Amino acid sequence: SGLNLAAKSAKKLYFGTATNSDQWNDTTYFNILKNNAEFGQVTPANVMKWFATEPEEGVFTFQDADIIADFTEKTGKLLRGHNCVWYNQLPDWLVNGTFTAPELAFIVTRHCFNLVNHYKGHVYSWDVINEAFNDDGTFRSDIFYNVLNTSYIPLALYAARAADPNAKLYINDFNIEGTGAKSTALKNLIKWLKSNDVPIDGVGIQSHLIVGEVPSTFQQNMEEFVELGVEVAITELDIRFESLPPTAAGIAQQKKDYETVIAACNAVEKCVGVTVWDFTDKYSWIPGTFPGQGDACPWDENFVKKPAYQGIIDGFQSR
Ligand code: G3I
Repeated sequence: SGLNLAAKSAKKLYFGTATNSDQWNDTTYFNILKNNAEFGQVTPANVMKWFATEPEEGVFTFQDADIIADFTEKTGKLLRGHNCVWYNQLPDWLVNGTFTAPELAFIVTRHCFNLVNHYKGHVYSWDVINEAFNDDGTFRSDIFYNVLNTSYIPLALYAARAADPNAKLYINDFNIEGTGAKSTALKNLIKWLKSNDVPIDGVGIQSHLIVGEVPSTFQQNMEEFVELGVEVAITELDIRFESLPPTAAGIAQQKKDYETVIAACNAVEKCVGVTVWDFTDKYSWIPGTFPGQGDACPWDENFVKKPAYQGIIDGFQSR
């Protein structure tokens, strides 16, 4: 038994996890990660990002990301590329530079093309655009939007399509788990891209959730994305406690919440797979960003499976 086996039995493509390869000398961690019964897909949590892959202008470095790509190749796991264009974890030369619109358009195109091209044939899906919206549905005024307005989005998608015609091209975001202003804005963007024949294949619903706060419209919202002609995936799932340690009731609620999320994906045929944003509390990003919060993963920091693990299995077995 295992999470990926459960996903496959439910006719999903994969159950996967994010990872960083500097965690792999932890043999307990690595043995669980390797196991294809648990994980049939991997997303690099950091090393494909712009700061890591184009640290100097026009100089591309793929050594760290290749370690993860080689691992997925050897183990027969699917690879999700993360990501081409994001306002965060950018190299200094890009953050501190001043660029005209034509210059930045060239920089975005070159980055996306070279990154996607390097992994051509090895990636199931790419998060081409990551976190382009504010929570109120307006576009995030990051370096890309400020110089290029929304034109950077088609530029990045065209470059990615040209580089690897077989990779599914996604737009990925958080706080789009339920219906609301941000989801509506992304739906409008998908419609606009589709009506202009810009390549777009999927929506990545990150799903960094809080225990007890899974939006009741999760499934309906996914269906509304799918109706626009894209697939969806849950790309960065974790369900955290805002205060620690959790109560027994909280732990039971977390199990239920994992089950609810997975059951929603299960009910939507075009929800192709689920990725957790690492599988153990030992390496979760949450305490580093939200001090005092956490315990969000299906395995605890000692690699003991929590009730949340069974919640995922139950979700995949729901009809
Ligand atoms: O590599 C440096 C290291 O040299 C330095 O000593 C250390 C000191 O802080 O920092 C290390 O960099 C950290 C980096 O992860 C690599 O471990 C950064 O501080 C830290 O901020 C960074 O966090 C990452 C975060 O994105 C950045 O926003 C997380 O690992 C990563 O899991 C997280 O992933 C994001 C997705 O890409 C997009 N969606 C949200 C998700 C969670 O924030």
